[in-house]
Amino acid sequence: MPTTAILGLQWGDEGKGKLVDSISAAHDLCVRFQGGGNAGHTVYPEGGKIVLHHLPTGVLHSGCINLMAQGMVMDPFKLIEEIAEVEGRGLKLDGRLFISDRIAITTALHLTLDVSREAGAEANRVGTTKRGIGPTYADRYDRIGVRMIDLLDEGALRDALQRAVNVRDCQTAGDAPNVESMLKPLLEVGAKLRKYVADTSLLLAEAMSENKRILFEGAQGAMLDVVQGTYPYVTSSYTTAAGIPAGVGLALRVEKVIGVTKAYCTRVGDGPFPTELRDAVGDKLREAGGEYGATTGRPRRCGWIDLFALRYVCRISGITHLAMTKLDVLSGFEQLQVGVGYEGHSAPGLPADIRKFSALKPTFKSLPGWKEDISQTRKPADLPANARAYLRFVEEFVGVPVGIISVGPEREASFDTDGAPKE
Ligand code: GDP
Ligand code: IMO
Ligand code: MG
Repeated sequence: MPTTAILGLQWGDEGKGKLVDSISAAHDLCVRFQGGGNAGHTVYPEGGKIVLHHLPTGVLHSGCINLMAQGMVMDPFKLIEEIAEVEGRGLKLDGRLFISDRIAITTALHLTLDVSREAGAEANRVGTTKRGIGPTYADRYDRIGVRMIDLLDEGALRDALQRAVNVRDCQTAGDAPNVESMLKPLLEVGAKLRKYVADTSLLLAEAMSENKRILFEGAQGAMLDVVQGTYPYVTSSYTTAAGIPAGVGLALRVEKVIGVTKAYCTRVGDGPFPTELRDAVGDKLREAGGEYGATTGRPRRCGWIDLFALRYVCRISGITHLAMTKLDVLSGFEQLQVGVGYEGHSAPGLPADIRKFSALKPTFKSLPGWKEDISQTRKPADLPANARAYLRFVEEFVGVPVGIISVGPEREASFDTDGAPKE
């Protein structure tokens, strides 16, 4: 049975959650392998809108087992709130949610570090979600992290917290939360989460040997990858398919890698965005697409799709299929632009030097738009000819077929192309 991944290809918020929701009913397992509460995956199941941050979107289907693997970071207090929200809808998680005992825990110390850094010197700002993501990953790699297993034992937790505070003390100008103030709440929340704790890589290995249908749910997007993205304006995890094996603790290879792109492009937070529109067209995209952050509520920066960047990230992430979301949002634009390169940039890749990246001036190809409302369309052949031509241009430029098209936020508002030509 094939393993499938759904991954973002831009700067996040491509509609991954919506797509995972629409296909996870047909999967036995749904696995998050990186990121944490910085993610905001918006879904419209029965019972109305819900935004998931830590929980795999498969929790919304009662037949789906959900793993939070060790490549993630987790704020246990926020997770408890999310669990309560999902269970409040009658979706019980006992026996269906498993949290890695090795997952990295975000503490009050990490939140303080993230917030104070963002409030500090302008040059150090990334525009983070202030969920403590960077400091939590940093502590993991500095070997002073707190892990899920530590929350289950007072002695282990006190030692782990003390280690982190000792090392971080000099960086927090004395306002670091102390060990004793963090200890009790973390032990209490650990006791509540104990029933979900497991060796998730073993569970996954077993599921694979039993030929279960497994879906990996990415968070953020390839352009936010900690190494391949627009560093330092990135998140702190590996967001491409390369992050899956390390994130789940199994040297596996995913067979079907679906890369999600909006029909245009957005970004929240700081950092370069070559095809950004800082004008009325950008505002129109923001309003038509409801482009406000699912986690922080910040207005998203909007621009045209950047096919050059898309082709690059498809190559490095081994994308086998594209999923294009929010095609409906482009209805009513007379002319559409697609980024096809940058002035004077002949290399096939993207510059590692952020100053060079920030200086990129995009070159565009203009394509005719369409007027029709396509939000009720359910097969490629029913799309307006110009919408089909748009999709065809994207897949020819990028060199990857568009396998899924999404035309609305609802579960049912997406369809497979079944490899059908978009003539
Ligand atoms: P994620 O982080 O990749 O899961 O995406 P977000 O949930 O942060 O942002 C995507 C937004 O677009 C959400 O509000 C979705 O409900 C919405 N959405 C997803 N797919 C479509 C689509 O095809 N059309 C429209 N109009 N909205 C969509
Ligand atoms: P989903 O899964 C969009 C951005 C932040 C910031 C940078 C670093 O919903 O697509 P962090 O808090 O991770 O240290 O912030 O990354 N960012 C996201 N942008 N969608 C996300 O997740 C994001 N997660 C982080 O805005 O620019
Ligand atoms: Mg999001």
